[in-house]
Amino acid sequence: TVGSLFVRRLFRHLSSTTSDGGGGGRWCVLCTHTLRRLQLQTKMDWEAFYDAHPSPSNYESIITDVENFVCSHENEKMVLITSGGTTVPIEQNTVRFVDNFSLGTRGSASAEYFLAAGYVVIFLYRSNSLEPFVRHFNNSLLDKLEIVDDKSIQVKQSELETLLPILKKYKDAKNDDRLLTVPFTTLIEYMWLLRGSCMLMDTKYSMLYLAAAVSDFYIPPSEMAQHKVQSNDGPPMIALRLVPKVLYAVTHIWAPNAYKISFKLETDNSILEQKAKGALAKYKHQLVIGNLLQTRKHHVKLIAQNGVIEDILLTETDTKKGIEIEDLIVSNVKAKHDQFFESQN
Ligand code: PMT
Repeated sequence: TVGSLFVRRLFRHLSSTTSDGGGGGRWCVLCTHTLRRLQLQTKMDWEAFYDAHPSPSNYESIITDVENFVCSHENEKMVLITSGGTTVPIEQNTVRFVDNFSLGTRGSASAEYFLAAGYVVIFLYRSNSLEPFVRHFNNSLLDKLEIVDDKSIQVKQSELETLLPILKKYKDAKNDDRLLTVPFTTLIEYMWLLRGSCMLMDTKYSMLYLAAAVSDFYIPPSEMAQHKVQSNDGPPMIALRLVPKVLYAVTHIWAPNAYKISFKLETDNSILEQKAKGALAKYKHQLVIGNLLQTRKHHVKLIAQNGVIEDILLTETDTKKGIEIEDLIVSNVKAKHDQFFESQN
């Protein structure tokens, strides 16, 4: 931090003193060198994290599926949506884990609207969190069916109007191979799958829509209990470590050419904008979508790299009409991606 502050000050000093070019070159070389070292430092944080956590056993086969999917949709607009929360196990034979809050509504609803907008979708989601289309029937599927003559089942007539269009869209997406769902559970699975997917999607056709709630803390495997922690040993002392922010690697190394959106969830309104701007300054991606836990279903803030801030608000009338905020978010970010796409030609 002290180093980066020094470099930033030095840059500010240089930009105010070297407009005539006199002596600036040498300083610039020095600055660039120091900056690269600092960037390397950041890079090493996450590289060390990956080195310390081997890939999940099924990683190669999953990432091959992703690769085949990406290759079969070359030169089509594609979005990687991350959704749901990551877990951090506290035991190697896991009984207990620390979780991040996310039901998966934002990601799963957005996936449906991206498909409707013509995108091909890779949905990287927490296992058992909400999934596109299926989300409409969670917990209520049995109530929508009825038994006929003790021999077969059918959809209740009263449910047909709702179910049919959803089922049709789902079937179209699957039959046309436009939706790939990839589940994760732990932070480590998420980290590996995110990296692998981003590296396959490094083109201007791609959008990264990072809505997952990713743990900022983890327990190194060497410090994790092997078996279930026993309560009769007294309260466990668990030291959590900081997870390196991979957004830096996403934006600078894995997918510099893609259109990148990160999400920011806060509970205190007074820090939301400032945190979003901080992320944009640090990671240099295109957009942060900020939301508060309490109001996330009807209000989000779009904070762009160029400083423009837009509010998306869902009115009561919208809600009564069945409009979801993700519909409005997706049409907004699609327009931004279109502009970005054109500007890259
Ligand atoms: O699923 P719902 O119930 O509908 O809720 C949706 C939501 C509120 C979870 C969603 O809209 C949202 O805000 N998601 C982001 C939550 C959040 O603030 O996550 P974070 O602080 O863990 O990460 C912020 C950004 O940094 C994310 O884009 C993430 O991809 C990135 N990150 C996080 C951790 C990490 N080690 N590296 C990262 O790059």
